[in-house]
Amino acid sequence: MKADKKTDYVAPVDDRGRKAVIDIRDITKVYKMGDIEIPALRGVSLQVYEGEFISIMGPSGSGKSTMLQILGALDQPTSGEYYLDGVNVAKLNDSELAAIRNRKIGFVFQSFNLLKRTTAQRQVELPLLYGNGRDRAKRARAALESVGLGSRLNHMPNELSGGQQQRVAIARAIVNNPAIILADEPTGNLDSRSGTEVLKIFQEMNRENGITTVFVTHDPFVARHTDRMIMLRDGEIVADKVVPDPYIAGTVERPSEASELEGVFRETYYEAPTEAFN
Ligand SMILES: Nc1ncnc2c1ncn2[C@@H]1O[C@H](COP(=O)(O)OP(=O)(O)OP(=O)(O)O)[C@@H](O)[C@H]1O
Ligand SMILES: [Mg+2]
Repeated sequence: MKADKKTDYVAPVDDRGRKAVIDIRDITKVYKMGDIEIPALRGVSLQVYEGEFISIMGPSGSGKSTMLQILGALDQPTSGEYYLDGVNVAKLNDSELAAIRNRKIGFVFQSFNLLKRTTAQRQVELPLLYGNGRDRAKRARAALESVGLGSRLNHMPNELSGGQQQRVAIARAIVNNPAIILADEPTGNLDSRSGTEVLKIFQEMNRENGITTVFVTHDPFVARHTDRMIMLRDGEIVADKVVPDPYIAGTVERPSEASELEGVFRETYYEAPTEAFN
């Protein structure tokens, strides 16, 4: 990155001495559809510090995916500032954006976004085609082994379960050793057992490898496994709370819905209609 793109920005530091790897300030996003303007984000500021595991919650249409796309440098905000690992994202052109995405960020989506008729091994090699491709096959295999798919290297997506497909997508996201993982409802299409497996992988990558993780979910029980919960509503952050004693994936039974919702409301001091968690 050129020096002028670093400017004189100094990343904020939290009370544990961790540097902000994501720093957005007063971000807005307005989608234009013909004459109609749709404000999807109305001034959002957020700092995510190295090694944090954050969940973003909020009702449908509250701007979660929009925010994740901006955080992932897949889209530019309408206004506001974004520093990604110290780099001023607004100043980057398309090829620089692509480069920073490839180097720093791994994405995981609800619908896996795997290529059909492509083996697990090959899917995971793809991000490595972009940079220097040394040891491509070996690195892809190691990533697949780390998500427990060492014995499925030559399977096509339609020869894998949903949970296994999502694990291929996670292997693809981590093969480049990104600083940050961004995931949009990664457990949304999975049954509860596969969802737990996937959650466990995210939690281990965060705790053992220190990968900063931002995780969009509708599910308060899933959010309860992260360290910090952000609540969006109508394009604004309405709550930002530390999760006391995050659950360890696979060790806690899902409570009945009522007590779960009650717990989340209590912890976030946020009175929302239950539709917020549909
Ligand atoms: N490409 C787009 N063009 C126009 N409007 C959009 C576009 N993407 C999102 N929107 C609108 O912006 C608002 C926020 O959408 P967003 O997808 O960020 O919500 P979300 O919180 O991810 O919802 P969900 O939980 O349903 O995934 C919505 O009103 C949506 O209709
Ligand atoms: Mg969404």
